[in-house]
Amino acid sequence: MQHKVPAGLDHKETEVYRHLDSARLPKHIAIIMDGNGRWAKRRHLPRVAGHRAGVTAVRSTVETAARIHIPALTLYAFSEENWKKRPKGEVDFLMRLLSRYLKAEVPTLNKNNIRLEYIGRQHELPDDVQERMAWAREATANNTGMVLTLALNYSARSELVDAFRSMVNAASQNGGIEHLRIDEDAVARHLYTRHLPDPDLVVRTSGEMRLSNFLLWQLAYAEIYVTPTLWPDFRGLHLLEGISEYQKRERRYGGLNHGEAHAHAEAALPVHK
Ligand code: FPP
Repeated sequence: MQHKVPAGLDHKETEVYRHLDSARLPKHIAIIMDGNGRWAKRRHLPRVAGHRAGVTAVRSTVETAARIHIPALTLYAFSEENWKKRPKGEVDFLMRLLSRYLKAEVPTLNKNNIRLEYIGRQHELPDDVQERMAWAREATANNTGMVLTLALNYSARSELVDAFRSMVNAASQNGGIEHLRIDEDAVARHLYTRHLPDPDLVVRTSGEMRLSNFLLWQLAYAEIYVTPTLWPDFRGLHLLEGISEYQKRERRYGGLNHGEAHAHAEAALPVHK
């Protein structure tokens, strides 16, 4: 266990951090932010009030992740399904909220050495939002600390479709389709997340036990942490609690646990009389 606590954590965060093993922090955490609507409903507020409160949760989570030196954090902000199935007023509100967040947050991202990236079909978003996104990415491009990826108009199935199309295009521009070679590395190299390690931990708020079309390929071996906390109430402290739970799990990647592997090895040894 390590006791050197990074600067900037508050008292409660420090308490949880002290019990973490800093050598085994996740390299990439993905979060499905859920429960904004329910948070608002419980307070007899319109749904958009939950989204507005969700920005405070984003800010706290991002800052804590950067402070403890998590290399990559990916937030599921807006799915392709959200875009198609929610009332236009709510979608417009989310777009304005995102634009405002990007404008307001760039100085803080720079202060924390955070580089901004996006995954999803950006070209389908409104032009002014795309321009703001490009501006914010540019403005943080030289930062060398945590990579914050926002999934916007994202769908894992669309990502796989885009990856397969991209593989076929690459082959046809590189000697023809007969040069197409498909294996796991090739697929991974054509995903939106090609520059990121696969997430070790995926967090979902508000108690739902679903992946909801989020990073289906990349989450193959991720530990799943579901908390009943609704997204607008989520803070850096909850992220640290999720990491603590993650560190209690044993990751096997389809293999055996240490004890079983040992027992098998013993059984395979020749018997000496
Ligand atoms: C899920 O809650 C949340 C969303 C669809 C939007 C997420 C947006 C934010 C957290 C704020 C803006 C984000 C950024 C990065 C600026 P829900 O509406 O599905 O909640 P419900 O399941 O309770 O209805």
